[in-house]
Amino acid sequence: MKDEMLATAKTKVEEKGFLDIDVDPMLDLFAEIERLKKEKNAVILAHYYQEPDIQDIADYIGDSLGLAQQAAKTQADMIVFAGVHFMAEGAKILNPTKKVVIPDLKAGCSLSESCPPPLFKKFKEQHPDHKVISYINCSAGIKALSDVIVTSSNAKMIVESFPKDEKLIFAPDKNLGAYINKVTGRNMLLWNGACMVHEIFSLQKITKLKVRHPNAKLIAHPECEEPLLRIADFVGSTTQLLLYAEKDPAQEFIVATETGILHQMMKNAPHKTFIPAPPDNSCACNDCPHMKRNTLEKVYLCMKYEQPELFMDEELRLAAKKPIDRMLELSEKAGLLK
Ligand code: 13P
Ligand code: SF4
Repeated sequence: MKDEMLATAKTKVEEKGFLDIDVDPMLDLFAEIERLKKEKNAVILAHYYQEPDIQDIADYIGDSLGLAQQAAKTQADMIVFAGVHFMAEGAKILNPTKKVVIPDLKAGCSLSESCPPPLFKKFKEQHPDHKVISYINCSAGIKALSDVIVTSSNAKMIVESFPKDEKLIFAPDKNLGAYINKVTGRNMLLWNGACMVHEIFSLQKITKLKVRHPNAKLIAHPECEEPLLRIADFVGSTTQLLLYAEKDPAQEFIVATETGILHQMMKNAPHKTFIPAPPDNSCACNDCPHMKRNTLEKVYLCMKYEQPELFMDEELRLAAKKPIDRMLELSEKAGLLK
Protein backbone atom coordinates (compact mmCIF):
# COMPACT_ATOMS: atom_id res chain seq x y z
CA MET A 1 0.00 0.00 0.00
CA LYS A 2 1.37 3.40 -1.03
CA ASP A 3 2.14 5.94 1.73
CA GLU A 4 -0.15 8.61 0.28
CA MET A 5 -3.02 6.14 0.37
CA LEU A 6 -2.53 5.70 4.08
CA ALA A 7 -3.96 9.15 4.77
CA THR A 8 -7.50 9.34 6.18
CA ALA A 9 -10.61 9.12 3.98
CA LYS A 10 -11.04 11.80 1.37
CA THR A 11 -13.90 14.13 2.11
CA LYS A 12 -15.75 16.34 -0.31
CA VAL A 13 -16.56 19.24 2.03
CA GLU A 14 -13.46 20.12 3.98
CA GLU A 15 -12.94 22.41 6.95
CA LYS A 16 -16.08 24.56 6.69
CA GLY A 17 -18.85 22.09 7.50
CA PHE A 18 -22.04 24.10 8.08
CA LEU A 19 -20.92 26.22 10.98
CA ASP A 20 -21.90 29.44 9.20
CA ILE A 21 -25.50 28.47 8.36
CA ASP A 22 -28.06 29.72 10.87
CA VAL A 23 -30.91 27.41 11.75
CA ASP A 24 -34.28 29.06 12.47
CA PRO A 25 -34.48 28.92 16.31
CA MET A 26 -38.25 28.29 16.03
CA LEU A 27 -37.75 25.10 14.01
CA ASP A 28 -38.77 21.90 15.80
CA LEU A 29 -35.51 20.07 15.12
CA PHE A 30 -36.75 16.75 16.52
CA ALA A 31 -39.76 16.78 14.13
CA GLU A 32 -37.63 17.94 11.18
CA ILE A 33 -35.02 15.25 11.75
CA GLU A 34 -37.72 12.57 12.00
CA ARG A 35 -39.22 13.86 8.73
CA LEU A 36 -35.83 13.80 7.00
CA LYS A 37 -35.19 10.26 8.25
CA LYS A 38 -38.32 9.04 6.46
CA GLU A 39 -37.89 11.20 3.36
CA LYS A 40 -34.30 10.06 2.81
CA ASN A 41 -34.44 6.56 4.29
CA ALA A 42 -31.72 7.64 6.69
CA VAL A 43 -30.52 6.04 9.90
CA ILE A 44 -28.83 7.95 12.73
CA LEU A 45 -26.13 6.00 14.54
CA ALA A 46 -24.88 7.75 17.68
CA HIS A 47 -22.13 7.01 20.16
CA TYR A 48 -22.85 7.19 23.91
CA TYR A 49 -20.59 10.25 24.16
CA GLN A 50 -22.95 12.39 22.07
CA GLU A 51 -25.02 15.10 23.74
CA PRO A 52 -28.36 13.88 25.19
CA ASP A 53 -30.54 15.40 22.41
CA ILE A 54 -28.61 13.50 19.74
CA GLN A 55 -28.82 10.27 21.75
CA ASP A 56 -32.59 10.77 22.03
CA ILE A 57 -33.13 11.27 18.29
CA ALA A 58 -30.78 8.41 17.24
CA ASP A 59 -32.07 5.14 15.80
CA TYR A 60 -29.26 3.30 17.46
CA ILE A 61 -26.97 4.34 20.34
CA GLY A 62 -24.01 2.19 21.16
CA ASP A 63 -20.34 1.58 21.79
CA SER A 64 -17.86 1.20 18.97
CA LEU A 65 -18.56 -2.51 18.47
CA GLY A 66 -22.34 -2.08 18.47
CA LEU A 67 -22.09 0.84 16.05
CA ALA A 68 -19.86 -1.12 13.65
CA GLN A 69 -22.30 -4.04 13.79
CA GLN A 70 -25.26 -1.76 13.06
CA ALA A 71 -23.37 -0.07 10.22
CA ALA A 72 -22.63 -3.50 8.73
CA LYS A 73 -26.30 -4.52 8.61
CA THR A 74 -28.25 -1.32 7.97
CA GLN A 75 -30.75 -1.18 5.09
CA ALA A 76 -30.81 2.63 5.07
CA ASP A 77 -29.69 4.62 2.02
CA MET A 78 -28.01 7.28 4.13
CA ILE A 79 -26.03 6.75 7.35
CA VAL A 80 -25.79 9.78 9.59
CA PHE A 81 -22.88 9.06 11.91
CA ALA A 82 -23.11 11.10 15.10
CA GLY A 83 -19.71 10.27 16.49
CA VAL A 84 -16.19 11.04 15.36
CA HIS A 85 -14.44 10.78 12.02
CA PHE A 86 -12.91 7.29 12.41
CA MET A 87 -16.37 5.91 13.24
CA ALA A 88 -17.96 7.41 10.12
CA GLU A 89 -15.01 6.13 8.12
CA GLY A 90 -15.73 2.66 9.50
CA ALA A 91 -19.34 2.90 8.31
CA LYS A 92 -18.15 3.90 4.82
CA ILE A 93 -15.64 1.03 4.74
CA LEU A 94 -18.53 -1.37 5.38
CA ASN A 95 -21.00 0.43 3.07
CA PRO A 96 -19.27 1.69 -0.09
CA THR A 97 -22.52 2.25 -1.98
CA LYS A 98 -24.35 4.09 0.79
CA LYS A 99 -24.11 7.77 1.54
CA VAL A 100 -22.30 8.35 4.87
CA VAL A 101 -22.55 11.84 6.35
CA ILE A 102 -21.08 13.26 9.56
CA PRO A 103 -22.51 16.34 11.36
CA ASP A 104 -19.08 17.95 11.80
CA LEU A 105 -16.09 17.02 9.72
CA LYS A 106 -13.74 18.34 12.38
CA ALA A 107 -14.91 15.78 14.95
CA GLY A 108 -11.59 13.95 15.10
CA CYS A 109 -9.99 11.88 17.86
CA SER A 110 -6.77 12.54 19.78
CA LEU A 111 -6.13 8.80 20.03
CA SER A 112 -6.54 8.18 16.31
CA GLU A 113 -4.34 11.19 15.55
CA SER A 114 -1.59 9.89 17.85
CA CYS A 115 -0.87 7.18 15.28
CA PRO A 116 0.00 8.59 11.83
CA PRO A 117 -0.02 5.77 9.23
CA PRO A 118 3.37 6.51 7.61
CA LEU A 119 5.11 6.40 11.04
CA PHE A 120 3.23 3.29 12.07
CA LYS A 121 4.17 1.60 8.78
CA LYS A 122 7.87 2.16 9.61
CA PHE A 123 7.32 0.79 13.14
CA LYS A 124 5.61 -2.28 11.70
CA GLU A 125 8.48 -2.81 9.24
CA GLN A 126 10.90 -2.86 12.19
CA HIS A 127 8.96 -5.84 13.62
CA PRO A 128 8.22 -8.02 10.57
CA ASP A 129 7.53 -11.12 12.69
CA HIS A 130 4.67 -9.42 14.61
CA LYS A 131 0.94 -9.52 13.87
CA VAL A 132 -0.85 -6.17 14.23
CA ILE A 133 -3.94 -5.75 16.41
CA SER A 134 -5.44 -2.26 16.22
CA TYR A 135 -8.05 -0.63 18.39
CA ILE A 136 -10.94 0.64 16.25
CA ASN A 137 -10.07 4.24 17.31
CA CYS A 138 -7.64 4.66 14.41
CA SER A 139 -7.70 5.91 10.83
CA ALA A 140 -8.47 3.80 7.77
CA GLY A 141 -4.74 3.95 6.99
CA ILE A 142 -3.89 2.18 10.28
CA LYS A 143 -6.71 -0.32 9.78
CA ALA A 144 -5.25 -1.15 6.36
CA LEU A 145 -1.93 -2.02 8.07
CA SER A 146 -3.61 -4.28 10.67
CA ASP A 147 -4.40 -8.00 10.87
CA VAL A 148 -7.45 -7.51 13.05
CA ILE A 149 -9.39 -4.66 14.66
CA VAL A 150 -10.67 -4.73 18.23
CA THR A 151 -12.90 -2.54 20.38
CA SER A 152 -12.86 -2.27 24.16
CA SER A 153 -15.75 -4.80 24.21
CA ASN A 154 -13.89 -7.58 22.43
CA ALA A 155 -10.15 -6.79 22.80
CA LYS A 156 -9.49 -9.46 25.44
CA MET A 157 -11.33 -12.17 23.49
CA ILE A 158 -9.61 -11.30 20.19
CA VAL A 159 -6.11 -11.07 21.70
CA GLU A 160 -6.69 -14.48 23.32
CA SER A 161 -7.68 -15.93 19.93
CA PHE A 162 -3.98 -15.65 18.92
CA PRO A 163 -1.60 -18.44 20.01
CA LYS A 164 0.15 -17.58 23.30
CA ASP A 165 3.58 -17.42 21.65
CA GLU A 166 2.45 -15.20 18.71
CA LYS A 167 4.33 -11.89 18.62
CA LEU A 168 1.84 -9.02 18.65
CA ILE A 169 1.79 -5.25 18.19
CA PHE A 170 -1.12 -3.36 19.75
CA ALA A 171 -1.97 0.13 18.44
CA PRO A 172 -2.73 2.92 19.05
CA ASP A 173 -3.85 3.02 22.72
CA LYS A 174 -1.06 2.22 25.19
CA ASN A 175 -3.49 2.21 28.15
CA LEU A 176 -5.94 -0.28 26.67
CA GLY A 177 -2.95 -2.31 25.38
CA ALA A 178 -1.34 -2.39 28.84
CA TYR A 179 -4.66 -3.37 30.42
CA ILE A 180 -5.13 -6.22 27.92
CA ASN A 181 -1.51 -7.34 28.47
CA LYS A 182 -2.30 -7.48 32.21
CA VAL A 183 -5.55 -9.45 31.96
CA THR A 184 -4.28 -11.88 29.30
CA GLY A 185 -0.69 -12.29 30.51
CA ARG A 186 0.57 -11.28 27.04
CA ASN A 187 3.47 -9.02 26.26
CA MET A 188 2.23 -7.11 23.21
CA LEU A 189 4.39 -4.29 21.86
CA LEU A 190 2.43 -1.09 22.46
CA TRP A 191 2.19 2.00 20.27
CA ASN A 192 2.55 5.12 22.43
CA GLY A 193 -0.91 6.64 21.84
CA ALA A 194 -3.60 7.74 24.28
CA CYS A 195 -7.01 9.39 24.56
CA MET A 196 -6.91 12.95 25.92
CA VAL A 197 -10.22 12.45 27.77
CA HIS A 198 -9.39 9.23 29.60
CA GLU A 199 -5.96 10.44 30.74
CA ILE A 200 -7.33 13.56 32.43
CA PHE A 201 -8.76 12.02 35.61
CA SER A 202 -7.26 12.97 38.97
CA LEU A 203 -6.42 9.97 41.12
CA GLN A 204 -6.14 12.21 44.15
CA LYS A 205 -9.60 13.75 43.68
CA ILE A 206 -11.13 10.32 42.95
CA THR A 207 -9.61 8.94 46.15
CA LYS A 208 -11.12 11.85 48.14
CA LEU A 209 -14.48 11.29 46.45
CA LYS A 210 -14.37 7.62 47.41
CA VAL A 211 -13.83 8.62 51.04
CA ARG A 212 -16.88 10.92 50.92
CA HIS A 213 -18.96 8.21 49.15
CA PRO A 214 -17.75 4.96 50.78
CA ASN A 215 -20.48 2.87 49.14
CA ALA A 216 -19.91 4.21 45.64
CA LYS A 217 -18.33 1.89 43.09
CA LEU A 218 -15.64 3.25 40.79
CA ILE A 219 -16.26 2.10 37.22
CA ALA A 220 -13.72 2.92 34.50
CA HIS A 221 -13.08 2.64 30.78
CA PRO A 222 -9.88 0.74 29.88
CA GLU A 223 -8.56 3.80 28.01
CA CYS A 224 -7.81 5.22 31.51
CA GLU A 225 -4.30 4.97 32.96
CA GLU A 226 -3.17 1.95 34.96
CA PRO A 227 -3.17 3.52 38.49
CA LEU A 228 -6.86 4.42 38.07
CA LEU A 229 -7.76 1.02 36.58
CA ARG A 230 -5.99 -0.66 39.50
CA ILE A 231 -8.38 0.90 42.04
CA ALA A 232 -11.53 0.52 39.88
CA ASP A 233 -14.29 -1.87 40.98
CA PHE A 234 -15.13 -2.60 37.35
CA VAL A 235 -13.39 -1.93 34.01
CA GLY A 236 -15.28 -2.13 30.73
CA SER A 237 -16.33 -0.60 27.42
CA THR A 238 -19.11 2.00 27.48
CA THR A 239 -21.80 -0.67 26.94
CA GLN A 240 -20.28 -2.88 29.64
CA LEU A 241 -20.16 0.07 32.09
CA LEU A 242 -23.79 0.84 31.32
CA LEU A 243 -24.91 -2.75 31.93
CA TYR A 244 -22.85 -3.03 35.11
CA ALA A 245 -24.27 0.21 36.55
CA GLU A 246 -27.79 -1.04 35.85
CA LYS A 247 -27.40 -4.58 37.24
CA ASP A 248 -25.03 -4.08 40.18
CA PRO A 249 -26.81 -3.62 43.54
CA ALA A 250 -24.71 -0.50 44.40
CA GLN A 251 -26.70 2.73 44.41
CA GLU A 252 -23.81 5.13 43.72
CA PHE A 253 -21.17 5.04 41.01
CA ILE A 254 -18.14 7.19 40.23
CA VAL A 255 -17.88 7.05 36.44
CA ALA A 256 -14.42 7.36 34.86
CA THR A 257 -15.19 7.89 31.20
CA GLU A 258 -16.68 10.60 28.99
CA THR A 259 -19.72 12.24 30.59
CA GLY A 260 -22.12 11.54 27.67
CA ILE A 261 -22.65 8.01 29.02
CA LEU A 262 -24.35 9.42 32.14
CA HIS A 263 -27.45 10.25 30.10
CA GLN A 264 -28.16 6.55 29.40
CA MET A 265 -27.08 5.50 32.91
CA MET A 266 -29.62 7.89 34.45
CA LYS A 267 -32.31 6.74 32.00
CA ASN A 268 -31.68 3.04 32.73
CA ALA A 269 -31.40 3.42 36.51
CA PRO A 270 -33.10 6.70 37.51
CA HIS A 271 -33.04 5.82 41.22
CA LYS A 272 -29.21 5.51 41.27
CA THR A 273 -26.60 8.27 41.59
CA PHE A 274 -23.87 8.71 38.99
CA ILE A 275 -20.92 10.98 39.76
CA PRO A 276 -18.55 11.92 36.91
CA ALA A 277 -14.95 11.20 37.96
CA PRO A 278 -13.21 14.56 38.49
CA PRO A 279 -10.53 15.69 36.05
CA ASP A 280 -7.09 16.93 37.03
CA ASN A 281 -8.11 20.61 36.74
CA SER A 282 -11.23 22.72 37.09
CA CYS A 283 -12.58 22.50 33.52
CA ALA A 284 -15.04 19.95 32.14
CA CYS A 285 -12.20 18.08 30.44
CA ASN A 286 -13.89 14.71 30.65
CA ASP A 287 -16.19 15.93 27.88
CA CYS A 288 -14.62 14.82 24.60
CA PRO A 289 -14.17 18.05 22.59
CA HIS A 290 -14.40 16.07 19.36
CA MET A 291 -17.58 14.17 20.17
CA LYS A 292 -19.15 17.34 21.50
CA ARG A 293 -18.60 19.23 18.23
CA ASN A 294 -21.77 17.56 16.98
CA THR A 295 -25.02 19.35 17.81
CA LEU A 296 -28.66 18.72 16.98
CA GLU A 297 -28.51 21.66 14.51
CA LYS A 298 -25.57 20.08 12.70
CA VAL A 299 -27.33 16.71 12.58
CA TYR A 300 -30.30 18.45 10.95
CA LEU A 301 -28.12 20.36 8.47
CA CYS A 302 -26.08 17.35 7.42
CA MET A 303 -29.29 15.39 6.78
CA LYS A 304 -30.88 18.25 4.86
CA TYR A 305 -27.86 18.98 2.63
CA GLU A 306 -26.42 15.42 2.71
CA GLN A 307 -23.00 16.87 3.51
CA PRO A 308 -20.23 16.62 4.66
CA GLU A 309 -20.12 13.25 2.96
CA LEU A 310 -17.32 10.71 3.31
CA PHE A 311 -15.58 9.25 0.27
CA MET A 312 -12.81 6.72 0.31
CA ASP A 313 -10.26 5.37 -2.08
CA GLU A 314 -11.36 1.83 -3.04
CA GLU A 315 -7.94 0.20 -2.54
CA LEU A 316 -7.67 1.72 0.94
CA ARG A 317 -11.26 0.74 1.73
CA LEU A 318 -10.73 -2.89 0.78
CA ALA A 319 -7.48 -3.12 2.77
CA ALA A 320 -9.15 -1.52 5.84
CA LYS A 321 -12.25 -3.73 5.54
CA LYS A 322 -10.39 -7.04 5.91
CA PRO A 323 -9.40 -6.61 9.59
CA ILE A 324 -12.83 -5.15 10.45
CA ASP A 325 -14.55 -8.17 8.87
CA ARG A 326 -12.27 -10.41 10.91
CA MET A 327 -13.31 -8.59 14.10
CA LEU A 328 -17.01 -8.87 13.22
CA GLU A 329 -16.65 -12.63 12.49
CA LEU A 330 -14.78 -13.31 15.75
CA SER A 331 -17.33 -11.25 17.72
CA GLU A 332 -20.23 -13.15 16.14
CA LYS A 333 -18.57 -16.49 16.95
CA ALA A 334 -18.09 -15.36 20.56
CA GLY A 335 -21.77 -14.41 20.82
CA LEU A 336 -21.05 -10.67 20.97
CA LEU A 337 -23.55 -10.00 18.21
CA LYS A 338 -26.11 -7.24 18.44
P1 13P B 1 -16.30 2.31 23.36
O1 13P B 1 -17.60 3.01 23.18
O2 13P B 1 -16.13 1.25 22.35
O3 13P B 1 -16.14 1.81 24.75
O4 13P B 1 -15.14 3.38 23.07
C1 13P B 1 -14.97 4.51 23.80
C2 13P B 1 -14.39 5.63 23.03
O5 13P B 1 -13.49 6.31 23.45
C3 13P B 1 -14.93 5.96 21.76
O6 13P B 1 -14.28 7.04 21.23
FE1 SF4 C 1 -11.08 9.85 20.76
FE2 SF4 C 1 -10.98 9.88 23.40
FE3 SF4 C 1 -12.77 11.40 22.17
FE4 SF4 C 1 -13.05 8.71 22.18
S1 SF4 C 1 -13.15 10.07 23.92
S2 SF4 C 1 -13.27 10.08 20.42
S3 SF4 C 1 -10.89 8.06 22.11
S4 SF4 C 1 -10.53 11.61 22.04
